Amino acid sequence: MSTPIIIGSERSEAGLPRAWELLSQGASALDAVEAALRDCEDNVNDHYVGTAGLPNARGEIELDASLMVGSSRAFAAVGAVKNYPHPISIARRVLEVLPQHCLLVGEGAELFAQEQGFETADLMTEETWEMFREQLKVSRDSVEGENTLSAPGDDIYRVTALELVRRFRPHDGPWGTINVIALDEHGEMVSGVSTSGYPWKYPGRIGDSAIVGAGNYCDLRFGAAACTGRGELAMRVTGARMVVDGLARGLEPDDACRTMLREAGDLPDPFRAELRTLCLTPDGRHGGASGQPGSTYNLITPDTDGVQAIARVQL
Ligand code: GLY
Repeated sequence: MSTPIIIGSERSEAGLPRAWELLSQGASALDAVEAALRDCEDNVNDHYVGTAGLPNARGEIELDASLMVGSSRAFAAVGAVKNYPHPISIARRVLEVLPQHCLLVGEGAELFAQEQGFETADLMTEETWEMFREQLKVSRDSVEGENTLSAPGDDIYRVTALELVRRFRPHDGPWGTINVIALDEHGEMVSGVSTSGYPWKYPGRIGDSAIVGAGNYCDLRFGAAACTGRGELAMRVTGARMVVDGLARGLEPDDACRTMLREAGDLPDPFRAELRTLCLTPDGRHGGASGQPGSTYNLITPDTDGVQAIARVQL
């Protein structure tokens, strides 16, 4: 028997308490991680995941999510899914009924979700429409010599879309994808990630959250890791896998996280935004790192009084 433990990135507190209730009653890590992320996906005050996530450059919310099981290293993900509020549950269904595949994207993922009986929903809220319109205005005003929104056409759209991506800067305060990693009393470990991705992204862009080894990796021999922030950097260094490799080499969790962020930080990236990571080992050690001061991750164990925020080590 293992002592259950669950960790999550900033804003996972919207889902960790229910997940902990399940874990402490003997539920599987898979059930706990899915439950935590579903609650986060339903949190309309969070603009980086699920309903009320920030849309792509065309005003459409495209969601990515993945799950990885530590004992088997089974991985399932969906990418660029529109109109389904719970991509993490679609990823779980891929894991369970389509194990010959790891990743479904776009129309195929939506077809699968429909066949599996998932309900569709309008994921944009008044607030996210307002934020989107505001960005379009900023983008239009910044393109010299022409009003890019005054004429129709793909070329105009493309200029505007790329300008939106170029201009985007993260909001102040906690932002980004949600990571959750749980160890259950049976000794199984599962990592899950859900996101609406880079705000104003080019349509069809899929980030690290759906890519095994980049935003999510779980190996019961050594531990699990997941990433938040600029997914392209996590993809370029295979960030989550790199953290788990550090654990396998005997690094302590904080050091494994910091080592990966240093490597990502050395890459040239004109679109630079922050990358953060966290990890958990099968014997219950955990850590997290960030380039930003004041960044934390969440923890629940039998010894904590509810959700405890732990400071991430800073680069
Ligand atoms: N880390 C989430 C993304 O880049 O989409």
